[in-house]
Amino acid sequence: MKLLTVLGLSALTLVLVPAVTALASSSPAPAPVVVQGGGSKLGTAMEELGGAVKSLSERIKKGEALEEGLPDVWKAQRAVIDAKSELPEMVTALTDEKAKKKATLAYREQMQELMRSLLDVEMGLAAGDAKKADKALRAADNLKSSGHGQFRKQGGGR
Ligand code: HEM
Repeated sequence: MKLLTVLGLSALTLVLVPAVTALASSSPAPAPVVVQGGGSKLGTAMEELGGAVKSLSERIKKGEALEEGLPDVWKAQRAVIDAKSELPEMVTALTDEKAKKKATLAYREQMQELMRSLLDVEMGLAAGDAKKADKALRAADNLKSSGHGQFRKQGGGR
């Protein structure tokens, strides 16, 4: 009886071990980690800002369901808060302390202006005023152009 049990268990092991091994080896490899915005916190905040602004611009163009765009404008504002606590590499790389201080102030001023424009976009959306929201979003877009011209390394065309 004992011999039969031992034989049975051995046979079971012979069948189960290769099956479990095969299953384990067929499991998919882990997905690669996607690093956005060149990996910097500022880059990630900018990506988020870009996504939110894009959907806002589409909504405002249609002029429909403006109030439903509020979560997007809040997302954009949160991204600006994240961006404000960072500095562009072009600023941190400056070795002249006076120039660095000046550039830091200029960056922060532009971020504040961007936030002001986004607050105006928010008011336009909340009041169902597409014209106001559109004007404010254009102002934000102008700040993007000047901010990128001044603080973003060459090669990034967005
Ligand atoms: C509506 C306004 C803006 C939008 C939609 C926007 C969007 C973007 C996007 C999509 C990127 C590329 C992120 C990536 O590297 O993948 C970027 C990068 C960048 N933006 Fe903006 N931006 C705006 C305003 C500004 C302003 C006002 C400034 C400066 C005062 C600024 C400074 C930068 C810098 C320095 C980078 C490079 C970040 C890095 O890769 O480390 N942006 N932005």
